Amino acid sequence: MGIVYSVGMEYRTLGRTGLDVSLLSLGTGGARKLGQSVGMTQADQTALVQRALDLGVNLIDTSSEYGESEVILGRALKGTPRESYYLCTKWPPWVDGCLAEDPGLLVDSVERSLRRLDTDWVDIMMFHGPLSHTYAPLVERFYPTMERLREQGKVRFVGLSAQYATEPSQAVADAALKNDPDKWDVLMLKYGLLNQSLAKELLPLALRHGVGVMNMAAVRVKLPDPALLEELMREWRDQGRVAAGELSERDPLGWLVHGEVASVVAAGYKFAADHPAIATVITGTSNMAHLEENAAALERPYLPPEDTRRVRELFGDIVEYV
Ligand SMILES: NC(=O)c1ccc[n+]([C@@H]2O[C@H](COP(=O)([O-])OP(=O)(O)OC[C@H]3O[C@@H](n4cnc5c(N)ncnc54)[C@H](OP(=O)(O)O)[C@@H]3O)[C@@H](O)[C@H]2O)c1
Repeated sequence: MGIVYSVGMEYRTLGRTGLDVSLLSLGTGGARKLGQSVGMTQADQTALVQRALDLGVNLIDTSSEYGESEVILGRALKGTPRESYYLCTKWPPWVDGCLAEDPGLLVDSVERSLRRLDTDWVDIMMFHGPLSHTYAPLVERFYPTMERLREQGKVRFVGLSAQYATEPSQAVADAALKNDPDKWDVLMLKYGLLNQSLAKELLPLALRHGVGVMNMAAVRVKLPDPALLEELMREWRDQGRVAAGELSERDPLGWLVHGEVASVVAAGYKFAADHPAIATVITGTSNMAHLEENAAALERPYLPPEDTRRVRELFGDIVEYV
């Protein structure tokens, strides 16, 4: 049995990997960590993962540092043919806040991830959150080891994810795409309604070099929480980043909700998918109904053109950790 495709789900090619991945993928980190932070049982977590597969999701993202997510996934996927989905996991290359020195740590982490996920290989292995100033030593110290793991068949494709909280510009991706585009099959980046800066240079560059982009945390905390969103819009208005009078105080992005756009969150997922460099948008939901809504939102992965234009005009120049 090979990869399974579902009617209703769009599939896009993940750059030079050639993998046709579902436009909605399932994340097991973020605030919810596959329901670990809201006390979900393994039975509920298994049901969520299996429902995602039923909806056509064929890519699942995890990391050695998402609590027990790898173990939970290993259990949730038991009995599901391994060839029918793709797994991405990661290793944070840090020891006590400094870039790690020992390549053996990467090997140990991959071996541990394989055991925890109960699999012989991961499809995409990433360095989790290197910063731009550590980019060059990271490549020098660890890339040869990553290549060896690839030759051994434990890892199929290689990538890195940006750490946008510390570097909202995601400058490590700039270094990767400008210095060594051939080294990276996949980048995990954050691009969304409130984080559009990558559209200027990095996403077009990724597209040009055939580097697949997985879009992380596109919705995150602000879009699903009306109070937080109102506070942020107030802040941006007070700082002069958004012109006064452009947005209403209450429900400032409510104007996006009309026609096929069921909610502000749905608008967020749609916008996040509407760039040719983006192959997949990872949802970190822990809620079955939300998972279904998010899959439905991406059946038509774009906003009406006039709303897209307005969103770009409003927030296109803002670079901030949101
Ligand atoms: N490499 C990295 O450093 C890095 C960083 C961040 C994320 N990631 C990856 O990207 C994945 C996605 O990021 P994320 O977890 O921040 O996910 P996200 O999908 O951007 O946001 C998830 C949050 O949105 C809520 N939500 C989702 N769908 C909703 C809906 N339809 N209605 C209302 N609320 C909704 C979720 O709450 P509910 O549970 O209630 O739905 C949760 O609080 C992570 O799980 C992880 O795999 C990687």
